[in-house]
Amino acid sequence: MAAALYGPSGFYCTNAPEQHFRTSGNAGPLFAASLVPLVVAIDESLGHPSRLDVVDVGAGDARLLTTLHQALPDELAVRTRLTAVEVRPRPTGLPLDVGWLNTAPQHITGLVLAHELLDNVPCDVAEFQSGGLHVVQVDSGTGAERAAGPPTQEQADWIDRWWPISDDGDRAEIGVQRDRAWAELVSHLDRGVAVAVDYGHTLTERSSGLYDAGTLTAYRDGRQVAPIPDGSCDITAHVAMDSCAEAGRTAGADTTVLRRQAAALRALGLDARRPPVDLARTDPQAYVQRLARASHAAELLDPTSLGSFWWLLQTTNCSLDPAILGA
Ligand SMILES: C[S@@+](CC[C@H](N)C(=O)[O-])C[C@H]1O[C@@H](n2cnc3c(N)ncnc32)[C@H](O)[C@@H]1O
Repeated sequence: MAAALYGPSGFYCTNAPEQHFRTSGNAGPLFAASLVPLVVAIDESLGHPSRLDVVDVGAGDARLLTTLHQALPDELAVRTRLTAVEVRPRPTGLPLDVGWLNTAPQHITGLVLAHELLDNVPCDVAEFQSGGLHVVQVDSGTGAERAAGPPTQEQADWIDRWWPISDDGDRAEIGVQRDRAWAELVSHLDRGVAVAVDYGHTLTERSSGLYDAGTLTAYRDGRQVAPIPDGSCDITAHVAMDSCAEAGRTAGADTTVLRRQAAALRALGLDARRPPVDLARTDPQAYVQRLARASHAAELLDPTSLGSFWWLLQTTNCSLDPAILGA
């Protein structure tokens, strides 16, 4: 998965990924605008520092970052330092005041965002077979699978704690690397808030049997395809959000909130109410704009798609009220 996504001929090195999938962040400006109350509250909880960091890790083309910046109140926008963290090269035309780094800054005061990053952090898959666990190895040409020996002790411990499996054919997608990636981001936060937004699940859901076959899949040209690690598609697996939360706590997070996107965005003030029909007569242009906004909001809140994403929010050395996400 690592080579297929980030190797020299990996998907993210050879493609413009935004053409292959739609995220809340690249689907329109509303998601970024919905984050404004969160950034304002973080700023307040930090006592309006002279420089407020907004760091987007796995920023893609940095559209979320630049759209969010435009939506901030002027007084806050001038104090905000924007940093995109990406393994890809800096896009041409990106405003010069947006920093572009390959790894997260060591010291961050403000907000760290990881929007659809963790599902792309490589994970090994383990399968239970004949009384034991083995790691699944995949032929990068054909997608054929074979058993590749037992998981490492660290992986086995993770499975035992976070995704126990005991029936032949059941799979666990091992979150060790995701936990590590998230913990590292939290550890770079001197003061502020880290937010991960992703497809995910928690132990209760994993234990229900819903995920016994795993979630590993791939996208190419907007369509779901077999996850063959040949570099031609975006390979992704849902994130064990609760194990990332635990890793964040171990890395120093003080408070944790884990919410579905629909609940989090509603708490931040997003609603999908349609404009009054009368407006169509008095101001047709405003009506159309508000209708378009309502339909985009409905997409972000839809419990069967984007609204079902998980938001993991963790704070370090700041007094942000978790109720900001309705917790
Ligand atoms: C699914 S895309 C999400 C892009 C954007 N955040 C959005 O929501 O539209 C995941 C991005 O994470 C980037 N990425 C993956 N691993 C990374 C890492 N360790 N550091 C920085 N960026 C990473 C990929 O290059 C890719 O652009």
